[in-house]
Amino acid sequence: MSAEIFAVVNQFKLEIENASPSTKDEVEQFRIRFVGSKNVLKPLFGEIRNVENERKKEYGQLVNAVKGAAEAKFQLLKDAVESAVEEASSQDMDLSAPPEPMSLGAHHPVSITMNQIIDVFARIGFVVAEDREIEDDWHNFTAMNTPEDHPARDMQDTFYLKNSIQMLLRTHTSSVQSRVMTRQTPPIRIIAPGRVYRNETISARSHCQFHQVEGLYVDENVSFADMKQTLLYFAQEVYGADTKIRLRPSYFPFTEPSAEMDVWLGVETEKARKLTKGTGWLEVLGCGMVDPNVLDNCGIDSKKYTGFAFGIGIERSAMQKYDIGDIRLLFENDVRFLKQFTSAI
Ligand code: DAH
Repeated sequence: MSAEIFAVVNQFKLEIENASPSTKDEVEQFRIRFVGSKNVLKPLFGEIRNVENERKKEYGQLVNAVKGAAEAKFQLLKDAVESAVEEASSQDMDLSAPPEPMSLGAHHPVSITMNQIIDVFARIGFVVAEDREIEDDWHNFTAMNTPEDHPARDMQDTFYLKNSIQMLLRTHTSSVQSRVMTRQTPPIRIIAPGRVYRNETISARSHCQFHQVEGLYVDENVSFADMKQTLLYFAQEVYGADTKIRLRPSYFPFTEPSAEMDVWLGVETEKARKLTKGTGWLEVLGCGMVDPNVLDNCGIDSKKYTGFAFGIGIERSAMQKYDIGDIRLLFENDVRFLKQFTSAI
């Protein structure tokens, strides 16, 4: 009796060993026959009662081994079929098809303009200096020779930090001048780009935040003529080789003498007339010889050294360059607006 039962088990064992299903369906058949809930091995466990006592242990081990072999084989077959399916589907892919277009980011018009200015000055040896936007009163005003009662200090113009009359959001990048001059000795030749803040009503023409690029050159024998030549070079790089400039006397607390520089755009084109309000001259920057008080405030000997400085507003140039009519567009980060600058550098 038990020899017959052993023979049945061994028969299944052989069948399992020799099975070589290759399709998904055949593997499924194998599963149903040997692994599924009604598999053919199941009843064999009950047959143990018909096996004589001294062979029960051997029988139990055999049936368990056959069951284990069936499960292991099924796992292998299943994995093989699945990876074959994966491979087949990857062969279905058209590798020569053009990819989904990648959407490119764009430089912000303010960055483009700022980088262009930095680039022009970097070519004649100015190095970029960056500093903090939360500044103290001394570096922003006092060191820059701005008297206590100067209108620029008015609460209306300056954002002071809560509960503080000492800390503020810098109102101009001129604060970087005092930062650099207090820690560096001449020669100093820096260009300082950055964001500045003023407590102004937001409109199409003005904003409470904007950008400037500051320039500073301090050394022995730096003259007004050096400044003029440097600014002429700048104007011709940005506005074209034949560009003319003019310097109009002006006033800034930190420079003496002070000036404003205009470039000649002419009155020939509609755009030039509009930008220059019919005068042909476009106001571009403020500049001047560093006031000796500023040098002394920062620990630089004003008897030995002189210097010039200038400050350029970025937003206005960017708006002129790209014909942008409302400064607020530059700060709203609306991708429909920004996307238009994808091809600009
Ligand atoms: N800080 C000035 C402003 O915000 C701009 C300026 C004018 C900077 C003259 C300078 C300068 O360095 O010499 O309006």
